[in-house]
Amino acid sequence: MYTIVTKEKLSPVIDFMKVKAPAIARKAKPGQFVIIRVDDVGERIPLTLADWDDKEGTISLVAMQVGTSTYKLAYLNAGEHILNLVGPLGLPSEIEKFGTVVCVGGGVGVAPVFPIARALKQAGNKVISIIGARSRDLLFWEERLRSVSDELTVTTDDGSYARKGLVTEPLKEVLEKDKQVNRVIAIGPAIMMKFCSLTTKPFGVKTIVSLNSIMVDGTGMCGCCRVSVGGVTKFACVDGPEFDGHEVDWNLLFNRQRIYCDEEKSSLESWKSCHCQSA
Ligand SMILES: Cc1cc2nc3c(=O)[nH]c(=O)nc-3n(C[C@H](O)[C@H](O)[C@H](O)COP(=O)(O)OP(=O)(O)OC[C@H]3O[C@@H](n4cnc5c(N)ncnc54)[C@H](O)[C@@H]3O)c2cc1C
Ligand code: FES
Repeated sequence: MYTIVTKEKLSPVIDFMKVKAPAIARKAKPGQFVIIRVDDVGERIPLTLADWDDKEGTISLVAMQVGTSTYKLAYLNAGEHILNLVGPLGLPSEIEKFGTVVCVGGGVGVAPVFPIARALKQAGNKVISIIGARSRDLLFWEERLRSVSDELTVTTDDGSYARKGLVTEPLKEVLEKDKQVNRVIAIGPAIMMKFCSLTTKPFGVKTIVSLNSIMVDGTGMCGCCRVSVGGVTKFACVDGPEFDGHEVDWNLLFNRQRIYCDEEKSSLESWKSCHCQSA
């Protein structure tokens, strides 16, 4: 059992929680993730390490409510427990002195970008961050990102805060203006990562994305997280989750993300109807 030490709402549908997990906090590296099971009838779901504190023995998770497991998680309070939690999983982000790095975070992807941007800054890079959300109420951690960035641009799709538009627009401007961009890291919804990769391709700037394929075991055995990168089959849980965005077969990823759409919808409806009746 893993105790939720603190919990905070970052938006009406996004929760931040610190969870007691000393063994994971000791080993965690930027880009890695955990797989949790909220209760004994729950699915295993992956969540990226948004931060960790070795001294406190805690890890930080940021989860957006999209289906049954993330709704269940959102209903847990500080002092309550997550049944199972395994990690750190996946290969850590490549952290080196590249020169100038652009870190792009979209939606809940802002959380995993934070420890990567911080590590890149500590490694001596110039870090230009761009974060975006659909609207103001879904935007979080602007100040955290600013604290580890040399420059920060914020966008909202609907213009309810900061610059109106998509993250790809300031990304293109930075690439046009700053000929010295050495690497781009883009994390967010798959469609955003695809378009960030398309934006950077003509400039020939290596672009790393973190693939959010469906996962079950997280150890390379079930094959559920299968993706195709450069024409080669990879398992996102053990070969990634970070890959070269210019090499990813995005259509395969989109199709595989939709495999259980009907089951996910009916599972959430059924959970909501039980939860509402018992509340
Ligand atoms: C490596 C990795 C890191 C992730 N990090 C975060 C994070 O930090 N914060 C966050 O909010 N989300 C993160 N996700 C996505 C998160 O795992 C899914 O939103 C979650 O599994 C949805 O489960 P659900 O039961 O709430 O929704 P469901 O109704 O089951 O599904 C809703 C959507 O989530 C996707 N999904 C469902 N089950 C899984 C699964 N087991 N693995 C991956 N995707 C799934 C489906 O494709 C569907 O589009 C990450 C995904 C991966 C692969
Ligand atoms: S989640 Fe099973 S192989 Fe990756």
